[in-house]
Amino acid sequence: MSTVKEQLIENLIEEDEVSQSKITIVGTGAVGMACAICILLKDLADELALVDVAVDKLKGEAMDLQHGSLFFNTSKIVSGKDYSVSANSKLVIVTAGARQQEGESRLALTQRNVNIMKSIIPTIVQHSPDCKMLIVSNPGLIWNKRRNLSQYPLCLGAKWGLRYCES
Ligand SMILES: NC(=O)c1ccc[n+]([C@@H]2O[C@H](COP(=O)([O-])OP(=O)(O)OC[C@H]3O[C@@H](n4cnc5c(N)ncnc54)[C@H](O)[C@@H]3O)[C@@H](O)[C@H]2O)c1
Repeated sequence: MSTVKEQLIENLIEEDEVSQSKITIVGTGAVGMACAICILLKDLADELALVDVAVDKLKGEAMDLQHGSLFFNTSKIVSGKDYSVSANSKLVIVTAGARQQEGESRLALTQRNVNIMKSIIPTIVQHSPDCKMLIVSNPGLIWNKRRNLSQYPLCLGAKWGLRYCES
């Protein structure tokens, strides 16, 4: 999805600006959007990308942020189901996850979330090989699984965050 600026202004010459502090959020649910608002208010990124499988919701959330983008320094807010929008991210925050269905065991939910991570993590790394990942999705149990998935040295889970805050 293109940004408001891209929709309103036609560039006559190619822009060769490469983002220096791009952040991607995978999963635009309650947690993902809270992260997005914090990133924008604290001016933490020069580009924000949103990725989700629920395209209608994703489009709505991205439009809301884009409409408010005049009040933020982060003018470039992009979104898409395709992970190409996340390319060249410095930080990827994963908040995507399945919700527990009625009658579903925690173990079955965990397996569904492991499957989601199996599809997400390698794709993130493919598009942003130098990024750091912050995993918010529960349960924390699958954090180690994700490390194996990405073969990635810096992948911070919520448990790390809690320990860090305690120390
Ligand atoms: N670590 C913590 O402190 C903490 C705190 C709160 C919530 N959580 C966890 O964070 C996760 C998100 O919580 P929420 O309340 O935002 O949930 P939510 O259901 O509101 O949002 C989840 C989003 O993930 C998306 N999603 C599902 N599968 C996907 C996939 N394969 N690719 C991309 N997007 C996908 C859904 O479409 C949805 O928009 C949950 O796992 C929750 O348990 C962790």
